[in-house]
Amino acid sequence: MLVTKEISKIRAERWREPGKTWGFVPTMGMLHEGHLSLVKRALQENDGCIVSIFVNPAQFNNSTDFSNYPKDLEKDLSLLENLGVEMVFTPDKEVIYPANFSSKISLEGLAGKLEGAARPGHFDGVTTVVGKFFNITQPHKAYFGQKDAQQLLIIKKMVRDLNFNVEVIRCPTFREENGLAMSSRNTLLTPEQKEKAAILYQSLQLAKEMIAAGERETAKVIDAMTELINREGMAQVDYISINDRETLEEFPTLQGKILISLAVFFDQVRLIDNVIHQIE
Ligand code: PAF
Repeated sequence: MLVTKEISKIRAERWREPGKTWGFVPTMGMLHEGHLSLVKRALQENDGCIVSIFVNPAQFNNSTDFSNYPKDLEKDLSLLENLGVEMVFTPDKEVIYPANFSSKISLEGLAGKLEGAARPGHFDGVTTVVGKFFNITQPHKAYFGQKDAQQLLIIKKMVRDLNFNVEVIRCPTFREENGLAMSSRNTLLTPEQKEKAAILYQSLQLAKEMIAAGERETAKVIDAMTELINREGMAQVDYISINDRETLEEFPTLQGKILISLAVFFDQVRLIDNVIHQIE
């Protein structure tokens, strides 16, 4: 397995056999089963797989969140090696953002909603780095998890808008036994918080049940979810939102294919999750 910080080495290996197809999985490391499922799928659907591990400072709007972000490169590399990954790109910050770097990919509309409203500038950081990774690795397919539903929508839109020659593949959210969506940030939770964080998924299930039982008032569903999470005591809701799944428009009366999403704090640890639901 080639592990390198250098763009030129990734490019040379990527083009050594030009006919080979490549899958790409961008990550910020601290890999869990969810990441590994993306890697496995990339390996199945392509001749080779490239993984990037880079904690991207440009997508953090909070410096403590950035410095606390969990890391274990050695373990990550051993997991990837065991799966048969060909290349891992582990650039330093200066490789991605050299002195005088001043460009940005910024999407209007979608990027200002939900996570973008709660974390200003977050998606500019994501689209800029993912755009750079697409240019560096030139993969045929790139794999993203549904847990970051808005990120996935935005990357798909960026690819369409800017004609990146890559197919973006949506992969399902992986969950712990208690329903908690897998996330590198879960390693920052205490065992008690991890257990209590099951409330996020329970609240999403509650929303689906209410809607299935006929509730169509957005505010009522959000209130019930908020109440359930607040009852838990340890969790603090950042936002709960129900939106059109594609446009992320909000509506007072629920209709069509919807994205139910939330962001919740356990102390300093911010967790997100979502489900998609079709209203008949
Ligand atoms: O989803 C993530 O881990 C990050 O946002 C990504 C796509 C690797 C870009 O830094």
